[in-house]
Amino acid sequence: MELDINWVRAQFPAFDEPALNGQAFFENAGGSYTCGPVIDRLTRFYHARKVQPYAPYEASRLGGEEMDEARARLAAMMGVDTDELSFGPSTTANTFVLANAVRRWLPKGGAIVVTNQDHEANSGPWRRLAEEGVELREWQIDPGTGHLDPADLERLLDDKVGLVAFPHCSNVVGEVNDVARITAIIRAAGAYSCVDGVSYAPHGLPDVGALGADIYLFSAYKTYGPHQGIMVIRRDCGFDLPNQGHYFNGEVLYQRFTPAGPDHAQVAASAGIADYFDAFADHHGITGEARQRAAGVHDLMRAHEARLLQSLLDYLAGRNDLRLIGPRDAAARAPTVAIDTGEAPASLAQKLAPLGIMAGGGDFYAVRPLSAMGVDPQKGVLRLSFVHYTAPAEVDRLISALDQLL
Ligand SMILES: Cc1ncc(COP(=O)(O)O)c(C=O)c1O
Repeated sequence: MELDINWVRAQFPAFDEPALNGQAFFENAGGSYTCGPVIDRLTRFYHARKVQPYAPYEASRLGGEEMDEARARLAAMMGVDTDELSFGPSTTANTFVLANAVRRWLPKGGAIVVTNQDHEANSGPWRRLAEEGVELREWQIDPGTGHLDPADLERLLDDKVGLVAFPHCSNVVGEVNDVARITAIIRAAGAYSCVDGVSYAPHGLPDVGALGADIYLFSAYKTYGPHQGIMVIRRDCGFDLPNQGHYFNGEVLYQRFTPAGPDHAQVAASAGIADYFDAFADHHGITGEARQRAAGVHDLMRAHEARLLQSLLDYLAGRNDLRLIGPRDAAARAPTVAIDTGEAPASLAQKLAPLGIMAGGGDFYAVRPLSAMGVDPQKGVLRLSFVHYTAPAEVDRLISALDQLL
């Protein structure tokens, strides 16, 4: 079965927007287009439900129910309990709160493992704990390929390590890490895992239960939703770490790591992500329980992306005037493709714009991995990132635009 690209694109108002007409979007790793159901729910909330939720009057009851619906449906799609899923302002802000919790939880003399493959969001907040006496150990990438080798992690683990933070997929290397294998290693060493799924989740919501992550983070605004960070925090870990919310909310798992009041409208509108995935499943004849359906949607999205991605990777790998970062095999990676070119990437991106290609150049807050791979972060890389709604003709247009400019 193939993904119905016309149906998919019809679910995203951006494709009908005259201001965006004729332009192919290749900066999805920075933030995706928003699907129709999210926009509709957000609009409805601001029009009809913009009152304090969870009170007995009708507008409030509906608003509160919609917020609960968002958590329940997204959690079911990711194979976790409803109260294991919570919202915060962004993944960076969420990591900040979690790092504060870990700071108080880790025994004196404790250690944390971070990588130099992560976006700064899942790196900096943990590294700052060194200022409080926490021992930091760095799991390092191969400087040539950007690959993180689980065998290297094993050498860093001992009973002092309380937590390992690593990405499901880096936003510049693009390689999909073997999360289930890595979390098993971490668990066997008696530590918790914190997985940054921001660059992976837009390509299909993962089964967090099967991945074995104690904490799994992603950003709704890159996953067709509003500007929120979503956290899955498994029950044992979530009650082991100290509560960061108001003291009287400490018994409620989904409130323990959200010290700020939630953004009611955006939490409610996130149910629209579930609407979209469900409608996608229905349209493509994918049936079963929520998790099975999400898995079917994931597989179809990934298959479509991989077909398009392989042609881009083959084109880039065939050139000898640029460095393609990360794997050349589409199955091993996300369609987030960074290239190091002779020309400054920012000016290359500028030249792509009049050719109808929206892309970006820079460090993408992945300064550490770029530096480790010998790329000057001041200059950065040209990043070409797409998702399942990208059409084959758009990738063809990208390739011919690159051919013209490189
Ligand atoms: C891989 C990755 N992790 C984390 C983040 C940070 O997410 P947020 O903007 O929600 O803080 C980003 C944002 O670009 C990212 O690409």
